[in-house]
Amino acid sequence: MARKPAIVHTVKSLRARVAAWRKAGEKVALVPTMGALHSGHLALVEEARRKARRVVVSIFVNPTQFAPSEDFTRYPRTLKDDVRKLADLDTDLVFAPDIPEMYPTGFCTKVTLGGPAEDLESVARPHFFGGVATVVCKLLLQCGADFAVFGEKDYQQLLVVRTMARDLDVPCVIHGLATIREADGLAMSSRNTYLSAEHRAVAPVLYRNLIDTAIHIREGSSIAWALREARSNLSMSGFRVDYFEARNAIDLSPINSLGDGPIRLLAAAWLGKTRLIDNIPV
Ligand code: PAJ
Repeated sequence: MARKPAIVHTVKSLRARVAAWRKAGEKVALVPTMGALHSGHLALVEEARRKARRVVVSIFVNPTQFAPSEDFTRYPRTLKDDVRKLADLDTDLVFAPDIPEMYPTGFCTKVTLGGPAEDLESVARPHFFGGVATVVCKLLLQCGADFAVFGEKDYQQLLVVRTMARDLDVPCVIHGLATIREADGLAMSSRNTYLSAEHRAVAPVLYRNLIDTAIHIREGSSIAWALREARSNLSMSGFRVDYFEARNAIDLSPINSLGDGPIRLLAAAWLGKTRLIDNIPV
């Protein structure tokens, strides 16, 4: 039977719960989210459940990772539904802080990044990874989890978080989980609800082009040519492409050929006012 998770809103109560589990010798896994949970998030929770006896899901729409022009105020907030979905997965605890709990008056510290945070998402969203890395660093330290699970859907974010945890000696193992997709290939995202019916029908073309590009590259086509093809196909289908790139899968450094190491294709493109991102291994 579904067991409704406890909900706490303060760092103090989060720490008290986790401390009790630790005393009993139980491992803890954290899944950081902004809520509006879909099957992609729920797969992370299931993975967390496989890793640890206790699972904490944080739900916090983090204002510092949104630019003023972005969708912070209209980002979907569905706490009641989220908690119901988490109950079905036997989640132990939901941590849902408010903004002053996370950013009290006088808060002024920020994680500064290099390496995998440079380029790609950071070109269109220069504020983004600083906000993400700072809030994730806080969540990892607040919770004190042994493991945290992130989606490959946000591949650059996963690498940024992993690098931040390593560089700052945050004692938490970061796990990545493959992207969960709709039946037609579109990567699940809380922002997919913004798509009009017309754009929703076109949206899977992004994934289709990632797959085709991977095939072209594996079959020996020039990477530069395959990327140009994909960008042009997407433009013809009505996307406005921010980037469609092939990068080293470990550190996102540029690559020129199949022999340069494991390759990840990463893309971001607009359909109307909705920005989609996706990526796959070659
Ligand atoms: P959010 O977009 O809610 O995503 C929470 C986690 O779910 C992230 O690790 C993301 O990569 C993962 N996720 C989203 N869609 C997925 C899918 N289709 N398949 C698998 N995993 C998926 O990412 C954030 O929130 C925030 O930036 C956060 C890390 C919580 C910091 O505020």
